[in-house]
Amino acid sequence: MKKIAVLTSGGDSPGMNACIANLFTLCNRKNITLLGVRKGYVGLVENDFITLSQEHINNVYNLGGSFLKTGRSEEFLKESGKQKAIKNLKEQGIEVLVVIGGDGSFRGAQELSEKGIKIICLPGTIDNDLDYTEKSLGFDTAVNNCVSAIDKIKDTMLSNNRGVVVEVMGRRSGDIALYTATASNADAVVVKEVPGSKDNILEKVKLAISRGVESPTVVVGEYILDVNVLASELTQSTDKLFKPMILGYIQRGGNPTVFDRNYAMELAVKTIELIEGGIFNRAIGLKEGKIYDTELKTVLFKEDNFNYELYNLFQKLNS
Ligand code: F6P
Repeated sequence: MKKIAVLTSGGDSPGMNACIANLFTLCNRKNITLLGVRKGYVGLVENDFITLSQEHINNVYNLGGSFLKTGRSEEFLKESGKQKAIKNLKEQGIEVLVVIGGDGSFRGAQELSEKGIKIICLPGTIDNDLDYTEKSLGFDTAVNNCVSAIDKIKDTMLSNNRGVVVEVMGRRSGDIALYTATASNADAVVVKEVPGSKDNILEKVKLAISRGVESPTVVVGEYILDVNVLASELTQSTDKLFKPMILGYIQRGGNPTVFDRNYAMELAVKTIELIEGGIFNRAIGLKEGKIYDTELKTVLFKEDNFNYELYNLFQKLNS
């Protein structure tokens, strides 16, 4: 193996930089040239490659985001865009493409693999919505960011005797909301996976207030309900002022946690092991806490791995 390339695509996630840095270090030891594709599939279509060197990775290990940048490419969705990408990969002499991203990125990678490109996919998304793996890179950092934001919000809510409704990201997945709610000792959580979870929030908040909770906290996954409306309904139905908070991009940035840094390293090591072993078109992830790899074409069809056990424990605590 002489030359491989890596791209980050979709929403960036903390740990992507550490993963690229580890890939570079491993490639460097083995005299493999590692190219970085800039802006994800956009760079693949536009032939925007850089040859990575120690200089590129010197100061990025601990940074969130992706120094290669990410992108969503309209052109790559078309057949002509894919053909351009393949032509560029071939002309650059790239033998394997490593894709770090979420489900959309994996879909693009799968299509390339069907057209003969050798692929390794790594789960990089804060949403944790790739069901073949227990964790995606960046999820742990995002949840820690949310919990630390809520800790701060609570300081001021408690001083003012207010409640709060916090919206977190996750798109189709309630994982960020669930893990944030449990770790922040919230009083209610609303997630897509449990449609009924949005129906009895007032009841839960009233119960918490009746038990002496001074700053009831409701955590809501995005795209389910309007947190402004919910906060004003709770204000009208209780004797407390509820403030709405949309955490937004603050949860996607920042230094990766120890978990995500170590996970980034394990993903990189496994990637190079597979490539050296001549094994391609695989997705790497975590199963029972251990790094494993599985067939790329199956990973987008796995059963939902939402942690219902944790959800039920949370409900028990708040009933
Ligand atoms: O997929 C990661 C994610 O942060 C989602 O949680 C969120 O819905 C989306 O990306 C936001 O995307 P954009 O950066 O395009 O606003």
